[in-house]
Amino acid sequence: MALRVVAVLNQKGGVGKTTTSANLAYALADMGFKVTVIDLDPQGHLGVSLGIPAVKQLKGIDAVMLGEESVENCLLSIKDNLQLVVSGRRLQEIEQLSDGGAKRGDLLRQAFDGQFDDQDFVFIDCPPSSGVLVANALFATDEILIPMTGDYLSLQGLSHMMATIKKFEIALQKQYQKLLVLSRFNTTRRISKEVLAILMKHFPNQILPTVIREAALLAECPGIGKSVLEYKPGSRSARDFRQLARDFIEGKVM
Ligand SMILES: Nc1ncnc2c1ncn2[C@@H]1O[C@H](COP(=O)(O)OP(=O)(O)OP(=O)(O)O)[C@@H](O)[C@H]1O
Ligand SMILES: [Mg+2]
Repeated sequence: MALRVVAVLNQKGGVGKTTTSANLAYALADMGFKVTVIDLDPQGHLGVSLGIPAVKQLKGIDAVMLGEESVENCLLSIKDNLQLVVSGRRLQEIEQLSDGGAKRGDLLRQAFDGQFDDQDFVFIDCPPSSGVLVANALFATDEILIPMTGDYLSLQGLSHMMATIKKFEIALQKQYQKLLVLSRFNTTRRISKEVLAILMKHFPNQILPTVIREAALLAECPGIGKSVLEYKPGSRSARDFRQLARDFIEGKVM
């Protein structure tokens, strides 16, 4: 299987990027795929969610992007088939880099070159912004996974983000494979169904059919430092993510 490098991206905060990155990666690793997750958010929440608190000594993707470390030296094993690169405490400095022109957007892609030949998937958990870090993710990937909530304001945010992605497509002369996932879906709200209907109209065949339902359990997981698949494997949320992983592998869309 060819390596797939996927940016988990949405400029809007709190939509479920990190939760999706952690749990989808975990589910794919359980299925036997070799998966690496990269925490590209200075907040370091992906590391925390997988049981690696933001310890400042750990070398992370910051050192890799600054050209001080190879990716290989920064891989932390989370479980069989799953490894993590933490954000590192200097990632925020890279976000604020103002010199280097287009080159500062290409740090990640260059650092990745040939580093993941033994992997099936690399997921990049992006910060909720549209600065240098996100530019680096877009240089380094061909696929974008967009977590969405089922509310009205996220629809507005989405059209803004699609315009940003389009700009990158033109500048970099490539077309991203874009997939949407409803990552915080409240099945009892009418607005959720309305948002889903609008999304299906505007993004046909680009939405993963399994929705991740809103669940208090998912909000508890980062505090425990475990994916829901490890913490409560029999839960509804764990089932949602296992099903989502199958959709993702089989290329199922709606
Ligand atoms: N389906 C869900 N049900 C309930 N809570 C959820 C769900 N998905 C995510 N959460 C919780 O919502 C909060 C935000 O989720 P998460 O951190 O994954 O979003 P994010 O998009 O990565 O945020 P940021 O933009 O800050 O990086 C977290 O507390 C998380 O545990
Ligand atoms: Mg996040």
